[in-house]
Amino acid sequence: MMKLQSCLILLLAAGLFTLSGCEPKTTPAAASAALSAPTIPVGQITLGPVSTFEQACARCHGPQGSFYGEAFAKLSDTQLHEFIKEMMEGPAGLHPTEEDIAAMTAYHQALAAKKPYLVVMDYVKENGYRLSGQASLQSNLIIQTAANKVQTTPDSNGNWSVQLQSPPRGILVQKDEAQTFVDFRKP
Ligand code: HEC
Repeated sequence: MMKLQSCLILLLAAGLFTLSGCEPKTTPAAASAALSAPTIPVGQITLGPVSTFEQACARCHGPQGSFYGEAFAKLSDTQLHEFIKEMMEGPAGLHPTEEDIAAMTAYHQALAAKKPYLVVMDYVKENGYRLSGQASLQSNLIIQTAANKVQTTPDSNGNWSVQLQSPPRGILVQKDEAQTFVDFRKP
């Protein structure tokens, strides 16, 4: 917490609007929510990007973006964000919040990098710890806690949920040969 605050003050003083100078984050999941929840990055997302893509974008861009061409992977983060905002509000006919757009952009960054995607959308302390969100279709999740490892897979809409005895430390997402590790111990 201290670390994040001093980092922010530094950035504000420097008049920068990016966190790129700060040591933690930019896993796709952490990118949008690192500020509000340093330890467990929970996004306030109303349109889960994995299911929303299949429902609203896949008819033009293919299941899981399989019709995107070579130019797609070369878009800058800013261009990608602009396209996604336009597409969500335009042809897809959605009413996304800024966090929804950020989450869809992070999902596209993972698609472009051919890495599995994960986002935490809810984290509740209740009979232990309940954690849920979305992840790339056909991926495999290994949730690491202080005590053990719990394995789960997202459903056909990309939704996953786990009930844990001890707090989660991180999630390893695997898909095909690629993997992404979202570390909750870092701020
Ligand atoms: C009705 C068809 C249609 C739908 C639905 C649609 N798009 Fe698009 N999308 C297009 C077309 C056509 C382009 C190329 C437009 C251009 O180059 O100006 C495009 C371009 C893009 C690009 C830029 C990369 C590229 O391949 O040109 C991204 C990223 C993108 N769309 C994301 C999305 C997302 C995310 C959704 C769902 C929220 C979505 N689109 C829904 C037709 C669609």
